[in-house]
Amino acid sequence: VNVNLDLFAEIERLKKERNAIVLAHYYQEPDIQDVADYIGDSLGLSQQAAKTDADIIVFAGVHFMAETAKILSPQKKVLLPDLKAGCSLADSAPPELFRKFKEKYPDHLVISYINCSAGIKALSDIICTSSNAEKIIESVPKGQPIIFAPDRNLGTYLIKKTGRDMVLWNGACMVHEIFSLEKITRLKVRHPQAKVIAHPECEAAVLEIADYIGSTTGLLKFTQRDDAQEYIVVTETGILHQMEKENPGKTFIPAPPNNACACNDCPHMKLNTLEKLYLCMEYEEPEITMDEQLRIAAKKPIERMLEISA
Ligand code: 13P
Ligand code: SF4
Repeated sequence: VNVNLDLFAEIERLKKERNAIVLAHYYQEPDIQDVADYIGDSLGLSQQAAKTDADIIVFAGVHFMAETAKILSPQKKVLLPDLKAGCSLADSAPPELFRKFKEKYPDHLVISYINCSAGIKALSDIICTSSNAEKIIESVPKGQPIIFAPDRNLGTYLIKKTGRDMVLWNGACMVHEIFSLEKITRLKVRHPQAKVIAHPECEAAVLEIADYIGSTTGLLKFTQRDDAQEYIVVTETGILHQMEKENPGKTFIPAPPNNACACNDCPHMKLNTLEKLYLCMEYEEPEITMDEQLRIAAKKPIERMLEISA
């Protein structure tokens, strides 16, 4: 792409010409967030994807998010700037292995975190996100046994929060597992007034010291209503962009990873760039396509989630 091209202006032009909407997750790079029509967490993004009347949904996020948009809006073209933008958590649950796992618990209801493939969604009864998981679990009658997949950290947190004893699939997010309790504690010693805010995909020991736990939207809203001046943010660094924009004067410190070579950026999310966003809008590819039977099977548990969280 010509370096003299104003990508921001070009993307705005393409939005109008193609009747396209750009949906971005908070973990996208700041430039992408700045051109997006909507920025949100996984629940907000799927609600937007279900209700938009645009012809094209450009999904600045990872594959399972764009796939969820396609499941909900099959008549629309759904574009993902880089088709290789996957998710380590979604990859930790291959559908064939999960099917066998599920067979061991025939009486269990399956609640799956939205960070999973369509194949896992099709094997699930209800989908949840980090912002509605408690509500979804509480909607299930007490006494009904539950399998929770694929995130064992979120699952462990939810067992503690809801008091429900769930069978967990052993998956995790590579970004949220690299935070170091020791390093956060050291940072806290140097910034005693700072509040620790963490995403529930983090390990239990890290969540233990958090002042607030929530989805990306939850974390952002907390910083807007809370009166601390400093925060140690234990999630992917992309969220800091909106936190800083919404809270001028407050300081946000990204929590450090456990070693200097590790990184608290999501390598999958960060595969998308402004240039790739522009190119995918210009050429209308790469596009998400799906087998129709799989789409219908995966849609049911997502619709249940949307009904419960409406
Ligand atoms: P939320 O934005 O729904 O909190 O999800 C976080 C995440 O890891 C997305 O991949
Ligand atoms: Fe997946 Fe973790 Fe990246 Fe989110 S941050 S897309 S859960 S690997």
